[in-house]
Amino acid sequence: MCNNVFFINKKTFHSKRRYMLKQIKTKDGSMTGFSDKYDEYYHSVTGAREEAVKKYAEPCRIADLARCPGKIVILDFCFGMGYNSAAAIDSALEANPNCIIEITGLENDLDLLEGLQEINGPFRSYGLIKKAASELSIKEGNVAINLLPGDAAETVMSLTEFEFDVVFFDPFSPKRQPELWTEEIFTNIYVRMRDGGILATYSCARSVRDALRGAGFLVKDGPPVGRRGPSTLAIK
Ligand SMILES: C[S@@+](CC[C@H](N)C(=O)[O-])C[C@H]1O[C@@H](n2cnc3c(N)ncnc32)[C@H](O)[C@@H]1O
Repeated sequence: MCNNVFFINKKTFHSKRRYMLKQIKTKDGSMTGFSDKYDEYYHSVTGAREEAVKKYAEPCRIADLARCPGKIVILDFCFGMGYNSAAAIDSALEANPNCIIEITGLENDLDLLEGLQEINGPFRSYGLIKKAASELSIKEGNVAINLLPGDAAETVMSLTEFEFDVVFFDPFSPKRQPELWTEEIFTNIYVRMRDGGILATYSCARSVRDALRGAGFLVKDGPPVGRRGPSTLAIK
């Protein structure tokens, strides 16, 4: 009986609790979050904004695609705080304000998406990211964002009729989440990309690169931002 009362109170407390992402300032002055579950930061502590711009938007040639063909279809695999998508939107609209941008974001943490309302992401387009996090599907001007809640490994298989130009692959590390860095998942992404499409990821682990090659990608070094080792670009 006593246990039951305690359980009900505890449950009520948790359901009313407001989610607060633990945040820290990174070396470029932008904020990132910390995951207690995975014991890792959401971005590199050398610069969260810098990472989104230099490891994802720039090497995926977002500005070039915005100019020609003027339409970009992006898969944001592990959307998180939405920095990679925000960096891409800023870069694309700066290069061509009439560019069409379609983003599909995969994320399994609904509390995090709700918590984004309290975050001031360091991007001009962050208002769009927050709106998408609250409504899951938005279209404003030429920018459409669809967030699909659930396990990205499962959700990606439901994405029929997509030909992504660009994939931002950004789970927690292969050490913490080995189940997401598999050849099977990379194959499921590969078949949903157009020829010449680029997947960017921060990891240069040998196991990751082998899995990408196994899926059919051509693997290259990406820019070494904030550390000595390179990131990885995988080209279809
Ligand atoms: C390193 S953070 C991503 C940072 C993000 N790309 C950004 O720019 O802010 C990893 C994200 O993956 C999410 N995640 C972890 N496992 C997942 C899964 N199986 N399916 C979907 N999302 C997952 C976490 O909740 C977290 O938000």
